[in-house]
Amino acid sequence: MAKSHVSLAVAPKPGEFQRKLLAWYDKNHRVLPWRSPPGERAEPYHVWLSEIMLQQTTVQAVIPYFEKFIAAWPDVHALAAADPDHVMHAWAGLGYYARARNLLKCATAISTLHEGKFPDTEEALQALPGIGPYTSAAISAIAFGRQATVIDGNVDRVLSRVCLIEEPLPHSKPQIRTEAANLYQGAKRPGDFAQAMMDLGATICIPQSPRCGVCPVRALCLAHEAGLQAELPRKLKKKDRPVRAGEVYWLTSGNKLVIEKRAETRMLGGMAGLPTSDWDKSGLGTVISSKIRKKLKNSGVIHHTFTHFDLTLEILEAELPPGLIAHGEGWADGWKLISLSDIKNVGFPTVFKKVVKLKSS
Ligand code: ADE
Repeated sequence: MAKSHVSLAVAPKPGEFQRKLLAWYDKNHRVLPWRSPPGERAEPYHVWLSEIMLQQTTVQAVIPYFEKFIAAWPDVHALAAADPDHVMHAWAGLGYYARARNLLKCATAISTLHEGKFPDTEEALQALPGIGPYTSAAISAIAFGRQATVIDGNVDRVLSRVCLIEEPLPHSKPQIRTEAANLYQGAKRPGDFAQAMMDLGATICIPQSPRCGVCPVRALCLAHEAGLQAELPRKLKKKDRPVRAGEVYWLTSGNKLVIEKRAETRMLGGMAGLPTSDWDKSGLGTVISSKIRKKLKNSGVIHHTFTHFDLTLEILEAELPPGLIAHGEGWADGWKLISLSDIKNVGFPTVFKKVVKLKSS
């Protein structure tokens, strides 16, 4: 006999959804270094720092960076007083370096204009550098217990399934926001509820093969009811990433290597790097003098994927003529010599670490 089937067909009631999810979170939350136990407010500085680091970056990648930052700069005043080069160095490898520059600007604003205290409303938080709608909602809910609709990529997926949103992302964003506002409304512990949604998305309502058998809100999930959980969220096909190419220079003098600090207006601005041609369209690439160019030899290629393009860099190497070291004719502004044995301590972004790896292999 066919199983009797009562269709839910309407979005779950917020109260029941919240109770079930919070009860699950109390037992199953991920223990993370920036979090407080369920029911307790987390330190605003920790929440802010972690949320900035977690933009576009996985929890596993962020944990060691978060711990390093907290050990070096235990509060926002310490971070505001830090040497910017030290902060950029500590950020190296985490990517999206504009975040680190805004982190410093924001720390300075909090330290000087707000006496070291983070504002608690979304509006006031968004007036600060590097804090947009997502981050302001996360801080006000997690650090201050305020009602806020916190929507990240995990939450997009959970809501697309729970509310059976068939329109593809990103077109479905307005509908997701409406459904989220309804489901988050009146949550008893707004910070825990937001993090419970994230944890559900990260550990149960995962992209492939969602683990519905152990899901605390399965009985309320319209996609599960319709058997569509593995197909949602639908996504518009991504456009192919454009490809860019350039040159990176491995210029040595005995056991020394030329490095530079990248101008603020270039990609990876403020970070240490090897000299490169203009691959970021800033117009600020190193122009190699004809004297050096004559000596350049091809010594390999690296590939790197940035958010908006794929980059191929040809590695060109030369031993610099002694007369050129340093500040002789052909020496570019901003170049600096370091010992090859110190290269590990420079704090290069990943694209340059790939060059170092190839040259050291
Ligand atoms: N991703 C972004 N914010 C997070 C948080 N507070 N906990 C876990 N994952 C997150």
